[in-house]
Amino acid sequence: MRITVIGCGYVGLVTGTCFAEAGHQVVCTDNDAERIATLKAGIVPIYEPHLDGLLTANSRANRLSFTCDATAAVNSGDAIFICVGTPPKENGEADLSAIDDVARLIATEAHTSKLVVEKSTVPAQTGQQLKRVLSVYRRDPSVDFRVASNPEFLREGTAVEDFLHPDRIVLGVEDEDSEAQLREIYRPILEAKFNCPAHLKGCPSAKPATLVVTTINSAELIKHASNSFLAMKISYANMIADLCEKVGADIKEVVHAMGLDPRIGPQFLNAGLGFGGFCLPKDVQAFVRLAERSGVNFHMLKEAELVNKRRIDLFIEKIRQALWVIKDKQVGILGLAFKANTDDIRFAPSLEVIRRLLAEGAQVRAYDQEAMDRTATIFPEIQFCREPHEVAQDADALLILTEWPEFRQLDWGHISELMSRPLVIDGRNLLDPATLMEHGFEYHCFGRHLEEPQRQFVPAPILKAASNAMQQS
Ligand code: UGA
Repeated sequence: MRITVIGCGYVGLVTGTCFAEAGHQVVCTDNDAERIATLKAGIVPIYEPHLDGLLTANSRANRLSFTCDATAAVNSGDAIFICVGTPPKENGEADLSAIDDVARLIATEAHTSKLVVEKSTVPAQTGQQLKRVLSVYRRDPSVDFRVASNPEFLREGTAVEDFLHPDRIVLGVEDEDSEAQLREIYRPILEAKFNCPAHLKGCPSAKPATLVVTTINSAELIKHASNSFLAMKISYANMIADLCEKVGADIKEVVHAMGLDPRIGPQFLNAGLGFGGFCLPKDVQAFVRLAERSGVNFHMLKEAELVNKRRIDLFIEKIRQALWVIKDKQVGILGLAFKANTDDIRFAPSLEVIRRLLAEGAQVRAYDQEAMDRTATIFPEIQFCREPHEVAQDADALLILTEWPEFRQLDWGHISELMSRPLVIDGRNLLDPATLMEHGFEYHCFGRHLEEPQRQFVPAPILKAASNAMQQS
């Protein structure tokens, strides 16, 4: 199949590359000429596991190409996937101007009939507007446009795996031809004939995806409803964590047992700093606005959003409680990305935490495996370190802001010796409190029951000296 992808951001790149990997002929375009030049040179401008290998292989196999020539791109595919951004406006609504631009481009430049597919996350009823724009601006009356919605469920960090081995593929269609065309496009993935190429190491073995065919409105709603539900689940876990702190329960124990109920499930119950990124926060806002415009007051979702915003206040309060005065304190940060396995810092909780620490006069040092370059463009005044031990040197506190698993493996005994004061405030409940306390740390996190004697744990060197003395006597 010949496919055009418009928009070479995170969704467009993964979509185009994976369709090429599935055997289709794909042309990708973007109005950012610099980005296209980078991609033509085989450089992937985002960090996404497996993407660079697949992009290079498929470009070499001539199944995947990039062009700035939008007219040529529009005319090369029978199906056009719209993958442009839908960022939030001031009032939280999704800004659909990029979708409108692309629709007018397709309407005026297409010489043959097209299936136009919304892949970008859009509010329900956008497909109806898309159809209208395509027909109003259509230049060639012999050209026919069909519209479909095919929302993506890609998680940053595992997007390639999610695309090639999805749980479900949702096709929002209004005619048989569109459904048949999309089924054909997804056939290699749907029939699970598509096996993991050797270079996709670590990819789970292929399992058949469930295909769901719906109306366009339902498909659009499924995406917003899914992300909003995940957001509510996280906020729910965070409220339980707050309650755990008050009644002396442990959030890890509570959510573990809750998650064993298949009706609840274990995922998205990790308490901490809350949800960030370019999807959940903006999709929750857009869904609330859509509900309001439709006369439905989605209080529950608004509350989930508020709970999420308050996580930062709570975290800063934990820092203040531990440090007393924040001004002039050396604060080390481990993790900047909005979650692990990405370099994305959009709406990352780390940004607001840093902003507030700087406003209070703290000296901030930071380390992240992937996200330091991006963060440096926002906060040139903070010091970026080559590795975590450098962050810890003479620090009054270390903050964990991203759940990078590597942070668990650090030599916490050594880190404790490097710090001015062995204090860790874990915004992701990532570390094992007992290990930290064994190394003499004062450790704070969200909703975990830390035994009082452990809080006042005697630093390891003193304990060792005491036990030696006992053995001698
Ligand atoms: C999210 C959805 O999970 C995808 O299904 C969806 O396709 C995507 O948005 C999208 O709309 O494109 P993503 O933004 O990559 O994916 O991130 P998530 O894995 O959902 O994590 C979002 C945030 O929630 C992160 O900041 C993460 O640290 C936080 N989180 C996640 C928690 O605080 N607790 C949890 O238990 C899980």
